[in-house]
Amino acid sequence: MSTPVLDETTRPKAPKIDGITDAQRRQGQQLAMIHRMHLQQIEQVEAIMAQIEAGNTKAHQVAEAVAGLEMIRNYRLFGNLCGQECQLLTFHHTAEDRQIFPALMQGSEGLRRVVERLMYEHTIIHALLEELETRAVALLQSPEQDNFTALSETFRQLAATVRSHFGYEETELEEAIGYHGIRV
Ligand SMILES: [Fe+2]
Ligand SMILES: [Fe+2]
Repeated sequence: MSTPVLDETTRPKAPKIDGITDAQRRQGQQLAMIHRMHLQQIEQVEAIMAQIEAGNTKAHQVAEAVAGLEMIRNYRLFGNLCGQECQLLTFHHTAEDRQIFPALMQGSEGLRRVVERLMYEHTIIHALLEELETRAVALLQSPEQDNFTALSETFRQLAATVRSHFGYEETELEEAIGYHGIRV
């Protein structure tokens, strides 16, 4: 399975906008607040993943049947939490693609370049979400260590890509969102 990788070095910077008021800046910072909520969800999934990994080590000591049950419960929990957050993340990106980005495309040429880059990054994240779903289905069909490892690798890559994308997006768009009076 080929996984798309994000190259952080090719990201354009948004031109600085002079005369931004405090209120405009606060409005722009709301995007970062929304991102924080998503990151909290992602951290929860990471915590469950760590529990499953710890359980894998423990399975050798505990009776296999008990370990198996606990494992299946954790897989389900992982699947639910992960599925929920993946859906919320998709909603977030759809809102940006349909409302926020088109409004920002009215701005300067430098800003448009950033928005185009952000749209491209959404396609990378979307591909990772699809890969994650494929691997989650494989794990549910056969709950084996190899399938869990594959799923957790994709999840780690997704989490890293999303963290990086959020950081870039909220930094470069902060002024423009406030300046153009865009509701996030
Ligand atoms: Fe985004
Ligand atoms: Fe975003």
